[in-house]
Amino acid sequence: MKFHITTFGCQMNVHDSQWLARALEARGWEQADESGAQVYIVNTCSVRDKPEQKVYSELGRFAARAAKDSTVFAAVGGCVAQQVGEGFFKRFPYVRLVFGTDGIATAPDALERIAEGAEDRIALLDFDEIYPERDMATGTCSDLHKNRQAFVNIMQGCDNFCTYCIVPFTRGRQKSRHPDQVLAECRGLVRAGVREITLLGQNVNSFGQDKGGVGVTFAELLRMVAEIPGLDRLRFTTSHPKDIAPEVIEAFGKLSNLCPSLHLPMQAGSDAVLKRMGRKYDRRRYLSIVDGLRQARPDISLTTDLIVGFPGETEEDFEQTLEMVERVGFESSFSFKYSDRPGVAALKFSPKVEPEVATKRLDRLQKLQNDITRKCLKNLVGRPAEVLVEGKSRRQDGLGIFWRGRDASWRVVNFRYDCDDDIVGSMVPVTITEAKNHSLIGERTGEPW
Ligand code: 5AD
Ligand code: SF4
Repeated sequence: MKFHITTFGCQMNVHDSQWLARALEARGWEQADESGAQVYIVNTCSVRDKPEQKVYSELGRFAARAAKDSTVFAAVGGCVAQQVGEGFFKRFPYVRLVFGTDGIATAPDALERIAEGAEDRIALLDFDEIYPERDMATGTCSDLHKNRQAFVNIMQGCDNFCTYCIVPFTRGRQKSRHPDQVLAECRGLVRAGVREITLLGQNVNSFGQDKGGVGVTFAELLRMVAEIPGLDRLRFTTSHPKDIAPEVIEAFGKLSNLCPSLHLPMQAGSDAVLKRMGRKYDRRRYLSIVDGLRQARPDISLTTDLIVGFPGETEEDFEQTLEMVERVGFESSFSFKYSDRPGVAALKFSPKVEPEVATKRLDRLQKLQNDITRKCLKNLVGRPAEVLVEGKSRRQDGLGIFWRGRDASWRVVNFRYDCDDDIVGSMVPVTITEAKNHSLIGERTGEPW
């Protein structure tokens, strides 16, 4: 069977889609482009209204093909699948499988049964009590770890119920994975040549603090993974400020392969808004975490998520967000207009901020962020960096070959190296020579390794 996966949303979805592709390839299925696929899989995101609407238009585009050929079908996974469930079968008759975040473990079997005609429609929407282990499906899909970077799930779900967020409803309660399983997967990946691992979870700092916990904290898990011989880079995401332990902050100064970057969603800079968001920290606490991180690792690069136009956000509240963004000096941020989601507490909060006001605030915030980003990147000119090569740069100047990779803090660095060998997955030492708006240019100073 030929399949195609389209992915929306977070890194957890990207990782889930990669796993699904490997699991299907292990069954002899083949990836194809959209027009050649018999099975069209959409892995969805419902964190805001926009990505949810995109899912419907994606599926709508598939209608013409499904009308011509009754053997082709679609499958919908991820958060919108969990939220809308069997409603997809009614709205799009060619959708034959819906699977939620826990259902993905059995999705390959379900797809096979449908493709063989053993079943017509399947819904995998139940939440499991414990973390649903998947077979690792390693050894196939040879391209997957070519760049020698991998994601490893350490937990599912979230218990925080921030008042704007649909995730606890679509991904269920927090379930930590057994640390032995996490370590076994990480060791296997490093043995297979992976040199950079990102540990993934909705709120990694509360790892182990649920029924699946066995007394191993996130700080301990980090140390154990960091000690795997041959692992050059370790990252993790996402962190909730209220749960970040002092030991995790200190780890940035102690674990040499823990990368000097942290994504720490702040969401808002006003205490009143943070309170109504149910974030359970205030400006002071956030700033003290930032101080601790910078003490542990002065060169740490901080990034964040921000929401503007949360119900009741005043101009003064918003200005406090601007002020915090400046004070912390985030190297970059993802910022969004608040979007009402079904079932969340903030749906009933008022007054709602006028869309035009929210748009203006978002613009102001993004302009400020762009200025700060430019300054941060400029400060790096003249500094050395180690680039893990991901591929050739999109832009080539015709004079030489340009490669693109990431430095230890996840910044994109382009550099010239006129070499015909494939250096994807190599580390290349460079000196930063120029800062672009969102990326860096470097000059190679040593041999790839
Ligand atoms: N509206 C706007 N942004 C949201 N996010 C989560 N829920 C909403 C919502 N209802 C943002 C948060 C989160 C990121 C993944 O998406 O900033 O950190
Ligand atoms: Fe959503 Fe808050 Fe959980 Fe993050 S911590 S997934 S924002 S509920």
